Amino acid sequence: MEKNTSRKDLSARVEELRRQYGSELVILAHHYQSDGIVQHVDFSGDSLELARRIPEISARHIVFCGVFFMAESACLLARQGQKVYLPDHSAGCRMANMARAKDVERILSFLADAGRKTVPLAYVNSSLAVKAVVGKFGGAVCTSSNAVSMMEWAMQRADTVLFLPDQNLGQNTAKRLGLSEKQQFVIDIAGTTLDCPQSRDARLLLWPGFCPTHAVNMLPSHVENIRKKHPGCRILVHPECTPDVVDMVDGAGSTAFLIKEAEKAAQDGKEKKLCIGTEYHLVNRLAKRFSGTLDVLPLVKATCPNMEKVTLPKLLDTLEGIADGKNIVTVEENLKAPARETLVRMLDHCRQAKRPRP
Ligand code: 13P
Ligand code: SF4
Repeated sequence: MEKNTSRKDLSARVEELRRQYGSELVILAHHYQSDGIVQHVDFSGDSLELARRIPEISARHIVFCGVFFMAESACLLARQGQKVYLPDHSAGCRMANMARAKDVERILSFLADAGRKTVPLAYVNSSLAVKAVVGKFGGAVCTSSNAVSMMEWAMQRADTVLFLPDQNLGQNTAKRLGLSEKQQFVIDIAGTTLDCPQSRDARLLLWPGFCPTHAVNMLPSHVENIRKKHPGCRILVHPECTPDVVDMVDGAGSTAFLIKEAEKAAQDGKEKKLCIGTEYHLVNRLAKRFSGTLDVLPLVKATCPNMEKVTLPKLLDTLEGIADGKNIVTVEENLKAPARETLVRMLDHCRQAKRPRP
């Protein structure tokens, strides 16, 4: 790619390559990607929608615009011979990096040796190696869309559930299921408190991870400011926000939920303003989309620095390098089966939960 190529030229070239590859190429993006990327994709979605979409794709090349764990999950669900690409391999998830496979394995082994029947439930924002450990111990993954249903699934299977790595999503989900604070215990990664009475009495053990974008940047004071400045304005946030923030607002849910709520509000026309607490690229896109109908306000302008690493020049570079396998994502063969099992358990459970009961 030449230096100083204009945005328009980059976009035109991306579109040209999309045309050339035709049905052999699918580009997917998470909702937190910038508009510059989203305009060039075949499908954008939340983590669950993206995972569900992969098995339906028959194209040979899947370019994933998001963070590393999402591309890894795509690899696990892809068909034989399909290739998955991520335009920047350094686009990790800061929360996913807070749980290392060897720590998860050590803690699960400790619990097993202590005779505690434990099922691990990993937020999909976790590495492939962590998913492999979770799979080996009979667990599954969940996303923010199905955390309630998956936590119920795990609770039905064990005395103890280890939820990782997002402490906040775990606590927000536990509250929706009516679990008391006494039934929950935040472990330390070193495992020194695992055998204390509070841990032993807990139904839910929580890993002390968090998303800096949501948990550090979105604070109760921001909610108070919005309430003061825009009285009566509904506030919705992502459940990666801390429980004190979630408790103060009018609702919490996945990025797909937040988009649907904005769409409903714009269609109803009863509300003039809606405040959303999640990554700023998504909130800003909704603000532009509904401008003149609904004022979509950010709780705070917080971005995800890793999602931002995927840029238009890098997307073009990836497309131009497909023939050479540039930016291809590969997964360790021996981790594949147990890691894939965690995703399959989630997708199967969601399918069954959706089926009407006789
Ligand atoms: P969603 O599954 O709600 O899109 O969330 C993914 C994510 O990384 C949020 O920070
Ligand atoms: Fe990870 Fe947070 Fe970025 Fe989502 S917003 S990808 S949880 S760091």
